[in-house]
Amino acid sequence: MAATAPAKDIKIVPRHVAIIMDGNGRWAKERGLPRTEGHRQGAETVRRVTEACGDIGVEYLTLYAFSSENWKRPKREVDALMRLLEQFLRKKTPEMREQNIRLQAIGRLHDLPKTCQEQLHRSIESTSQNSGLTLILALSYGGREEILDGVKSLIESIERGHLDKGMVDTDVFSKHLYTRYYPDPDLLIRTSGELRLSNFLLWQVSYAEFYITPKLWPDFDKEDFFEAVREYGRRQRRFGGV
Ligand code: IPE
Ligand code: IPE
Ligand code: MG
Repeated sequence: MAATAPAKDIKIVPRHVAIIMDGNGRWAKERGLPRTEGHRQGAETVRRVTEACGDIGVEYLTLYAFSSENWKRPKREVDALMRLLEQFLRKKTPEMREQNIRLQAIGRLHDLPKTCQEQLHRSIESTSQNSGLTLILALSYGGREEILDGVKSLIESIERGHLDKGMVDTDVFSKHLYTRYYPDPDLLIRTSGELRLSNFLLWQVSYAEFYITPKLWPDFDKEDFFEAVREYGRRQRRFGGV
């Protein structure tokens, strides 16, 4: 396909890309549309970006879709987002199966509406045998909440005698986080210009390269994604060394 040609020059590919998909509301506002319309367009961007990941061989893509704090939004918007998520999953699952995408989710998933949870689990189940891109949706996700849940799980392991307190180090603790099965992100992208983490993957992005673009999420296209990856390739990662 012609659309894949511009990525041919990309030699250094991050194994795990995490994205704070921001700016749907502003995109809609600029057009005099309801915020929900921005979210609907944002879902289209997800399709483009997963495709772009496939083009260059990214192994893990984590998308911040709904934060712990997003429950504070007006009920109307929250309801619309939950409906959109359910629709997205229902519609995209056959495509994900075709494209060999394995769907996963992190966050306090039991906070989601029942029908959403059921659809999510069906989608995860029906893509579980896929071996291509692992697409991880962060839903009702908060980095602080994740760390707290990790601490509780760690204490439980110690109390049950499965783990000795003296053995706890950063690797052991990582195994108690929602992300225990995935490597840490190499590249963190945030759209729409905000210079903050907004409670996203606080522990895991310790050594991720940050890429912030003013583009609003619904406008973010494959070429924007490839540009972020090229910029990543130009960075010198030192991990505290020299
Ligand atoms: C990101 O877009 C989507 C979610 C947080 C669910 P926003 O809805 O935050 O859009 P802005 O930041 O108001 O433009
Ligand atoms: C972060 O965006 C959460 C998601 C993208 C899901 P927000 O729009 O909620 O973040 P703030 O409020 O600008 O920090
Ligand atoms: Mg926002």
